[in-house]
Amino acid sequence: MDVSGRANDREHPRIDASVAHSARVHDYWLGGKDNFAADRAAGDAVMAAYPGIVESVRANRAFLARAVRFLAAEAGITQFLDIGTGIPASNNTHEVAQAVIPDARVAYVDYDPVVLQHARVLLTSSVPGTVDYIDADLRDPGKILRAAAKTLDFSQPVAILLIAVMHLIVDDDDPYGILAQLKAAMAPGSYLVLSQVASDIETEQVAEARRRYNNLARETQQHRTHDEVTRFFDGLTLLEPGVVPVQRWRPASELEARAKSTMWCGVARR
Ligand SMILES: C[S@@+](CC[C@H](N)C(=O)[O-])C[C@H]1O[C@@H](n2cnc3c(N)ncnc32)[C@H](O)[C@@H]1O
Repeated sequence: MDVSGRANDREHPRIDASVAHSARVHDYWLGGKDNFAADRAAGDAVMAAYPGIVESVRANRAFLARAVRFLAAEAGITQFLDIGTGIPASNNTHEVAQAVIPDARVAYVDYDPVVLQHARVLLTSSVPGTVDYIDADLRDPGKILRAAAKTLDFSQPVAILLIAVMHLIVDDDDPYGILAQLKAAMAPGSYLVLSQVASDIETEQVAEARRRYNNLARETQQHRTHDEVTRFFDGLTLLEPGVVPVQRWRPASELEARAKSTMWCGVARR
């Protein structure tokens, strides 16, 4: 990879073990094996500045599972567009959704070549025709929507998932414009599920963690305030309890509710 393009450039990334990448650092924090020394160094640097990072990413995964289960079991959603898939971990979107609705359809999107390799396994282990993988960049939502239309019917309700990915879209990449394009494709009854790292929880530790990450990683992180995250849901109706730390979004147990995180999240309906 051309390391000159560290700041979220649009060059399609090739696997480069020498520079940390968000999918692999995230995998490291979750205890996975798909990471290199550079990813572990960046992960450790963040952990030294903010020791709660592992608890935070786990709480975010638990939010993902609760939100998808809610959508499939209670909101009648059968179609999911999961952008920023990550390296498979426990409770991937299609597993949670298809446990409730066996033929629920899921289109995954990521731009990481390691995630792409896993996608081949993911696709062959799923119910044929229900899971698709799109190798695309969130900064090109038009391409994503065109490709996803092969699996998902956008005239019907769809849940769009942006879980732990918007902090990798810097303001120069027009995050609110990207959201506007995605929301315009959502039929009435569709849902937006979003989480991203906060700039106003554990402010100093998390700012230091971001500085360290940005020095070592390919992508630049941009953390956002509660108000900035709430703006992503403009034009939609936020479900209770609104934009909250991930562990507070309808926790399934006292244990889940007591977790600590530095991530805002919300679920909203069109
Ligand atoms: C922190 S991981 C989150 C994974 C998963 N959504 C979760 O919450 O467990 C962020 C993922 O977003 C992907 N990503 C980051 N920027 C992206 C972009 N511009 N387009 C597509 N995927 C992107 C990364 O490759 C990585 O897999």
